[in-house]
Amino acid sequence: METKIAIVTGGTAGIGKEIARGLVRRGFLVGIVCRNEMRGRATVEELLEEVPEGRVEIFLADLSVLMDVRRVAASLEERFDRVHVLVNNAGVHLMRAKESADGYDRMIATNHLGPFLLTNLLLGHLEKGARRGW
Ligand SMILES: NC(=O)c1ccc[n+]([C@@H]2O[C@H](COP(=O)([O-])OP(=O)(O)OC[C@H]3O[C@@H](n4cnc5c(N)ncnc54)[C@H](OP(=O)(O)O)[C@@H]3O)[C@@H](O)[C@H]2O)c1
Repeated sequence: METKIAIVTGGTAGIGKEIARGLVRRGFLVGIVCRNEMRGRATVEELLEEVPEGRVEIFLADLSVLMDVRRVAASLEERFDRVHVLVNNAGVHLMRAKESADGYDRMIATNHLGPFLLTNLLLGHLEKGARRGW
């Protein structure tokens, strides 16, 4: 059976980690996009402890940085020939305005600009996944 590939942003904590856990349990190969390598590795360990035959990989990117989003999209495209599911989960709720590396409001950059760009960059791969019955 064809391996189903899911990308989950912010899969190292909270809702994103639970989504990643659910997808791994269901046999998806899960790519977690996260900005903290140690937290990413710890998450992979935790999920594989529960599902030893599971497949989880981490891809590092700060989604509030548009160059980082472009770089991680390229890595994902290179690693996978298609994507079946993209979960744009990563997000922040900042009580005070902060600037992103690109000079945008950091909350807008993280919650909207980064996910919008990532989705657009992965559209071709998502369409390939969809053409195979998803
Ligand atoms: N929980 C709620 O009640 C609630 C309500 C409405 C909407 N939401 C939305 O649901 C999503 C998940 O919420 P949650 O409560 O599970 O959040 P959470 O526990 O704070 O986890 C957020 C995840 O996103 C990652 N993340 C944050 N900024 C990032 C960035 N710039 N680049 C890459 N990864 C980044 C975090 O990574 P780090 O570990 O590196 O910080 C973490 O893994 C968020 O988008 C949130 O806004 C949540």
